Amino acid sequence: MGDYKIPQTAKISVLTGVRKMEVKELPIPQINDDEILVHIEGCGICGTDVHEFKGDPFGYIPVQLGHEGTGTIVKLGKNITKDFSGKPLAVGDKIVTGLRPCGKCEVCTKHPEKIHLCEGGEIFGLMPGENAYFNGWFGEYIKINAGGVVFNVSDMSLDLRLLIEPAAVIVHAVEKAKEIFNFKHDSYVLIQGCGPIGLLLLTLVRTMGVRNIIAVDADKKRLAVAKELGASAVIDITATQDPVADVKALTGGLGAEMAFQCTGSPKAASVVWNYVRRGGSLCELGFFVNNGDAKYNPHLDICNKEIKVVGSWTYQASDWIQACEFLKEAQLRGLPVEKLITHRYGIDEMNEAMEMNISMQGSKIVYQNNNI
Ligand SMILES: NC(=O)c1ccc[n+]([C@@H]2O[C@H](COP(=O)([O-])OP(=O)(O)OC[C@H]3O[C@@H](n4cnc5c(N)ncnc54)[C@H](O)[C@@H]3O)[C@@H](O)[C@H]2O)c1
Ligand SMILES: [Zn+2]
Ligand SMILES: [Zn+2]
Repeated sequence: MGDYKIPQTAKISVLTGVRKMEVKELPIPQINDDEILVHIEGCGICGTDVHEFKGDPFGYIPVQLGHEGTGTIVKLGKNITKDFSGKPLAVGDKIVTGLRPCGKCEVCTKHPEKIHLCEGGEIFGLMPGENAYFNGWFGEYIKINAGGVVFNVSDMSLDLRLLIEPAAVIVHAVEKAKEIFNFKHDSYVLIQGCGPIGLLLLTLVRTMGVRNIIAVDADKKRLAVAKELGASAVIDITATQDPVADVKALTGGLGAEMAFQCTGSPKAASVVWNYVRRGGSLCELGFFVNNGDAKYNPHLDICNKEIKVVGSWTYQASDWIQACEFLKEAQLRGLPVEKLITHRYGIDEMNEAMEMNISMQGSKIVYQNNNI
């Protein structure tokens, strides 16, 4: 347990206008007996952060973004002794944050296992206004308010910890998929969209022992990573006349048994039905943001095919625990999951980091605190 020297002030990165991240140096807030002060090591940049950067769809400016962060506890309120899963917490431990549920509503009081469906919940890194500074992970320090869900992940490397939040998203999607599909070693599973979400999902399905995994994307570099992470076949939609025929050829002439839609593209969401065989299943997780309507044909796509469909929205607390187990398992199996992190930027380079994300040249772009 270290003895931490906490400075008077720290830098944070604030979205102060459309496409404008600004560094502010401000006094580090005091914490009370129910709060935690964390020295931030880094934070992944999520598509949602980029949406905010481009146009602030939630109307949150100013906001200190960053919800995929991790760091070291440097001050711990005396009422906090354990993390959400019951593991002891101490100064010096490395943590990540889950949602901050309201704690009062019907979901929170009667169904704590479903806190992701709490209507009044908050997310660290998506709390707008100047009063909420030091509650996002794009900075040097973060204050975890009372009631914030935290997990002690001291046994994981920094790079794996940076992937826990998106890993929780895909663990949740696979749990939802299990409600409608029984995964077997020889199942035909298709993943449409090989961004960080699709690629993590692919890796999870691989660690579950599924051998026939088809990855579909329009980006050669991302498809090459899909191969490394365990895809048995990849389809580049820009290099084929008929991706649906390709999928059929790879699946005994029938199509995939289970497909995951991991793009935010209405066009892709309209096509994905064609990849699924009769009696097959489909999980839609790509539309975290409302990007518009997609098309399906009720006769051809659902009724005649008897397709089962499930949606997946963020994660519940138990998914975080499984996300950590999955990342450790991927590493044990030699699947190079850390390769998803392709670019790192310091606090003074957050505009460049966001623009790199928009350019789609990398995969997971992260903020890393160089002042540690
Ligand atoms: N359900 C949730 O709770 C949740 C949580 C986080 C993110 N998301 C969503 O998941 C989606 C994926 O996230 P990401 O970070 O991987 O995004 P990303 O933009 O990096 O990746 C999307 C990928 O889809 C590919 N793509 C686009 N059109 C395609 C098509 N027609 N066919 C095949 N591939 C196509 C792109 O080339 C890209 O590689 C996002 O839209 C995001 O909003 C959902
Ligand atoms: Zn996110
Ligand atoms: Zn609630």
